[in-house]
Amino acid sequence: MTAQPVRVGRVEELTPGVRRFTLVPERGALPAFSGGSHIGVMLPDAGAARRNSYSLTSSPYERSFFQIAVKREPASRGGSAYLHESVREGSRLEIAAPVNQFPLANTGRHHLLIAGGIGITPFLSQIESLQRWGHSFELHDCYRGAENAPFLAELRERLGPRFHGYDTSRGARPDLVALLRAQVTGAHVYVCGPAGLIDAVVAAARTLGWPRHHVHFERFSAGPQAPTRPFVARLARSGQDVSVSGGSSLLDALDAAGHAVPYSCRIGGCGTCEVAVIEGEVDHRDHCWTDEDRAGDRRILACISRAKNGHLVLDL
Ligand code: FES
Repeated sequence: MTAQPVRVGRVEELTPGVRRFTLVPERGALPAFSGGSHIGVMLPDAGAARRNSYSLTSSPYERSFFQIAVKREPASRGGSAYLHESVREGSRLEIAAPVNQFPLANTGRHHLLIAGGIGITPFLSQIESLQRWGHSFELHDCYRGAENAPFLAELRERLGPRFHGYDTSRGARPDLVALLRAQVTGAHVYVCGPAGLIDAVVAAARTLGWPRHHVHFERFSAGPQAPTRPFVARLARSGQDVSVSGGSSLLDALDAAGHAVPYSCRIGGCGTCEVAVIEGEVDHRDHCWTDEDRAGDRRILACISRAKNGHLVLDL
């Protein structure tokens, strides 16, 4: 994927932990995107280059600049810490073209948007589209204190009765089962935020018998992971053995060995980094495949999944 050079036109501190970066093209217009899309931003990570994904918060109808809002993660190895500490107005960055793994279902009779914390970001561009199209929707936003909710005032004013806020620091929480039960037939639900919120919405939808394809979610992190053990991946075409340490992913180990595999989310949520498996048992840790997808261990998502018994043979 070709990287596009951009300049940082503006940096705004939206809350003590969240900064908004306005990116303008070095020349020409930026590519088109749809509500819910993210871009990859090339960033140094522990000395190496790596692409981190950030939702576009600007309007899909605006091609002269992109905006992303980045929360500084305490455990950041380079991504959000680098953006917060080293990127200033006038800095130059490289971005990858927008990708949408959290698109709106155009056929939905109603769109129920549920955000937790910085999970509000993909909804900003979705709301722009829903308003332009005149589609029926409502937003339920969970945040820990108004001072930590970067878009709260703007969304309240813009959405009026379609906005429902829950300050979790005061004990407010949506009753997810009641909320989903109250929806019209043909509604779609979208959730983005902490793993606990996503899992709760998915569980409530399942309990109420919602069709699987009416439930959409986007994760920002892989969530708690089981301990990782080292393993060896043999590349069948060359016979090369690639060692994957306990602290690294198969994707990173393949990259370091000169076998770059395309990726997008890096948390097992999109399916981009799929590699065919010839032999071995896979410890599947992704969030996007069904049991049928995983059956037979014939493929692996290299960014997150691992070997169960110390080795895999890959069709590479
Ligand atoms: S990069 Fe998205 S699943 Fe691996």
